[in-house]
Amino acid sequence: MKKWNVPSLLAMKGVRKLGCCTAYDACFGRLADEAGVPIVLVGDSMGMMVQGYPTTLPLTMEESLFATAAVARGVKDAMVVCDLPFGAYQCGDDEAMKNAVKALQVGADAVKIEGGAFRASLVKRMVDNGIPVVTHIGLTPQSVNQFGGFKKQGKTREEAMRLLDDAKKLEDAGSFAITLECVPSELAAEITASVKMLTIGIGAGPVCDAQWLVMHDLLGLNEGHVPSFVKQYANLAADVKAAFGKYVEEVANGEFPVK
Ligand code: KIV
Repeated sequence: MKKWNVPSLLAMKGVRKLGCCTAYDACFGRLADEAGVPIVLVGDSMGMMVQGYPTTLPLTMEESLFATAAVARGVKDAMVVCDLPFGAYQCGDDEAMKNAVKALQVGADAVKIEGGAFRASLVKRMVDNGIPVVTHIGLTPQSVNQFGGFKKQGKTREEAMRLLDDAKKLEDAGSFAITLECVPSELAAEITASVKMLTIGIGAGPVCDAQWLVMHDLLGLNEGHVPSFVKQYANLAADVKAAFGKYVEEVANGEFPVK
C-alpha cells in the first residue's frame, strides 16, 4: 500500500468513506496503520485521554511534538496529522507557522487547526508554504470556555449558514479537509455537498466523506463518559484490567514466573 497523501485522499471523495482515528504513541499508531486507517490524528484530545485533564487546553506544543514524532515512527501508510494545541496558533501567525513547521519536521504530514473563516489567512499562508491543513469547525473544543461546555453547534439556521460560509472560505484558503464536530447531520450533509475538500465528521452523522473517532472511545478504553455518537468496537478496558488482575494473582500465588 502506498502512503496516503492529499491528492489520494481527495480522490476518495464520493468514492469511499474513510474511517480515521486518533493515536498518541508509536504502538497504537502502528496498529491503526496496519489495520488500514488512512489518517491518524495526533489529537489534542491527548490532553484528556492520556494526560487526564478535563479539557484539551493544557496540552502544550512540546507534548504534542513528542507524541507526533512517536506516532510518525509507528505509522507507514497513513497520513499523520498533528493537531496544533491551544496556544500554538492563537498568539500570532508567525508563531503558528513556526509550530506547524516543527510538526512537519518531527514527522507529521499535515496539521489541524480549529476555527472558522477568521483562520483563512493563516490556512492560506500554511498551504502556500507547503503545509497541508485540516480545519475544524462546529464544536471546537479549544473554545469550550466560550461555548460554556461541550455543546452541539449549528442548531439554528443562522449558525448553520455561518458554518457553511466558514467551510467555503477555509476551502478557498486551501484546506484539503475539514472536521465537522457535533453539528446536525443535515448541516454536515449540506457542507459535504458544497465543498470539494473532504469533510471528516465526529458526531455529525453519516453523510461526511470520512469519520473521526477518538482511539480510546473506539477501543472501549474509556470507562467514564462516552459521547452518545460513539461506537465502541472493543472493550479493552475490561480486557486490560482482567490481564493486570490475572498477573497480580499469578505472581501472588507463584504461578508466574515459572522455574
Ligand atoms: O483531538 C481530537 O481528538 C479531535 C477530534 C476531532 C478527533 O480533534
